[in-house]
Amino acid sequence: MALKNPVMTASGTFGYGTEFADFVDPAALGGIIVKGTTLEPREGNNYPRMVETASGMLNCVGLQNKGVHYFCEHIYPEIEHFDTNIVVNVSGSAPEDYAKCAACLAGLPRIPAIELNISCPNVKNGGMAFGVTPEGAASVVRAVRAAWPRTLIVKLSPNVTDIAEIARAAEAEGADALSLINTLMGMAIDVEKRRPLLSIGTGGLSGPAVKPVALRMVWQVARAVSVPVIGLGGISNATDALEFLIAGASAVQIGTANFLDPQVSVKVVEGINRWLDEHGCTGVEEIVGTLQA
Ligand SMILES: Cc1cc2nc3c(=O)[nH]c(=O)nc-3n(C[C@H](O)[C@H](O)[C@H](O)COP(=O)(O)O)c2cc1C
Repeated sequence: MALKNPVMTASGTFGYGTEFADFVDPAALGGIIVKGTTLEPREGNNYPRMVETASGMLNCVGLQNKGVHYFCEHIYPEIEHFDTNIVVNVSGSAPEDYAKCAACLAGLPRIPAIELNISCPNVKNGGMAFGVTPEGAASVVRAVRAAWPRTLIVKLSPNVTDIAEIARAAEAEGADALSLINTLMGMAIDVEKRRPLLSIGTGGLSGPAVKPVALRMVWQVARAVSVPVIGLGGISNATDALEFLIAGASAVQIGTANFLDPQVSVKVVEGINRWLDEHGCTGVEEIVGTLQA
């Protein structure tokens, strides 16, 4: 997948792009990663499923979506004309679910890539997320690689001890690129009720609070693999994005910041271009992985 610029929007934070049509021309972006899509429709978790935290937010939306067949029949026709890369974020509870979902999407010519969300619980193996062990990550990538002929991005979970070993496992099974990070597991409590503020107790932390962790992991993964890395986690402006690029990411995604400023992604594109001009660079590849450490 070729990108016209290195800025994409992150899954679950930009809908299908159509919701942001009043604010952002999709053609201005390198790509849009659409909402998490599963083989069967999912209702998501009960409310409340979002909580604001210091410099971030927790969510336990739980992959609410109408399923891949609905996506193919009803949503794809609305977005296939977008002059940008439309990437579908794919989730599942078993490797076969991911592979079947990918096989459905393979029939859509305007989807150049899919991104696997391996932070989902593996229902057959006690509910532990696929992405927290090299074997779990490998099992999903292997199944999907056999069903998906185009660019395969694997999105890594930060809720692990050694993210580099998960990255290497995904690369070994044929991932074309790795994106990171997904949300960090967190919690918030109502002290009067002495109950969690989120319906299922815990949720995923995102936003500026996670940026230093994301940046460290992108740096570690970029040194551990030879496939391109896509960095995300707390990016709110062009300087944040430049940090990820210098750390080794070839592209970035903007997530939670879209909720604060729906035009932030375009502002990041413009800010990166300005910085490159000011520093005499002709392309973003001149700064990728140039950290002096
Ligand atoms: C409300 C919400 C929904 C999300 N849904 C998904 C999803 O469906 N699939 C996925 O891989 N990541 C999902 N994410 C994670 C984001 O894509 C991103 O990895 C994470 O929020 C970190 O980036 P950020 O700090 O820029 O938001 C979601 C995040 C939020 C806040």
